[in-house]
Amino acid sequence: MPNPAVNPFAPTFGAPPPLFAGRDDILRRFDSALDTGPTHPDYTLLITGERGAGKTALLNVLEDHCAERGWQSITAAASTESLSTRITDEAQRLVADIAAESRRPRLRSISALGVGIEMVDEGRRDSAPARASLLTTLERLASALQEIGAGLLITVDELHDAERDDVRDVASAVQIVTRRQQRPLAFAAAALAFVENTHLADANMTFLQRCARARLDALDSADTRRAIRQPIQDSGGDIDCDALDEAVAATLGHPYMIQLVGFHAWEMRTNAAASVSVADVRAGIVEADHAMVGQIAGPIWNRLSAMDRRFLVAMLDDGDDSALSDIADRIGRELQYTRVYRRRLLDAGAIDSRSGARVAFRHHALRKRAQDAVREDPGLSPSNR
Ligand SMILES: Nc1ncnc2c1ncn2[C@@H]1O[C@H](COP(=O)(O)OP(=O)(O)O)[C@@H](O)[C@H]1O
Ligand SMILES: [Mg+2]
Repeated sequence: MPNPAVNPFAPTFGAPPPLFAGRDDILRRFDSALDTGPTHPDYTLLITGERGAGKTALLNVLEDHCAERGWQSITAAASTESLSTRITDEAQRLVADIAAESRRPRLRSISALGVGIEMVDEGRRDSAPARASLLTTLERLASALQEIGAGLLITVDELHDAERDDVRDVASAVQIVTRRQQRPLAFAAAALAFVENTHLADANMTFLQRCARARLDALDSADTRRAIRQPIQDSGGDIDCDALDEAVAATLGHPYMIQLVGFHAWEMRTNAAASVSVADVRAGIVEADHAMVGQIAGPIWNRLSAMDRRFLVAMLDDGDDSALSDIADRIGRELQYTRVYRRRLLDAGAIDSRSGARVAFRHHALRKRAQDAVREDPGLSPSNR
């Protein structure tokens, strides 16, 4: 039942959106991989995107697609737990569940399962017991699931936060089961884009390097419109045409911003029966911008060095983008030196660079954060030195 009193939007990291918009191409690729099996390149997938781009939401949708096929999923988040421990524990639990199911009379026909379950492999002599048990558990689980025409999806969120040894243990076990043994074990990890220059630059990370990439960019304007309008209408409300246009333009297709603008515009309505107006959207955008500065720009800004910040402040004199040579002049450094900082800021998700010679703020919110910093400390600005 639509309830116009309940705000349908979900401006919270990791919260499923009321309408999951776009990403059709990635979902098509993934479905086709599940149809095809481990030989399909998208069977092992690395999703990258900035904070709030919708990585966690996408992993959840991939799990839903697997569940619809009767597959199992194991979800691990590198920022909060050891990946190998979590995956081993969950896999053991699933193996036990399947064994219990197979003992029920109605499932006796799949007695071949027993063979898989009994494969305890005492004979395996591996010097690293944790890894051996991860590998043997995954082997057992994947073959048991294969017997019943199903499979397993392992998702790893926040991969950039994982310990490298931990990633290597998981990667080598998954690699053996899916690539070498060709069992139905699909893998999807999500990370901030800088992981390409940290974990993936490591020579021992060949499995991850070979995963297919899915980069989450901004949603296009048709998907953004749907993501804002449909939840409003599904909740029994409506949004004026010009209000929707302004809301769509303000989000720049950024999923977190879509939820923020939708949420705050909805809150601004004078009464539950009113449709969302241009005034509601404009007031909502102000609130959303505040949240973006705090939630998106803040964490990026806090990780930057003093020179990184000077670089960004030097960009404030320009409009859409800045010439690297101008920035070098303003911070009083050689172009070569400035290029090193350009690289660092690209990796940190602070700037974009369409050509090597020009750079732009990745987020409007980060420009605002830099302006706030100058307001707090005018000495940061090159024009005040
Ligand atoms: N495809 C989408 N359509 C609409 N909203 C989305 C979509 N993907 C994510 N969101 C919303 O955007 C916000 C950030 O998503 P999340 O998956 O937590 O991002 P990330 O993991 O990349 O930081 C959440 O509020 C989520 O509900
Ligand atoms: Mg996330």
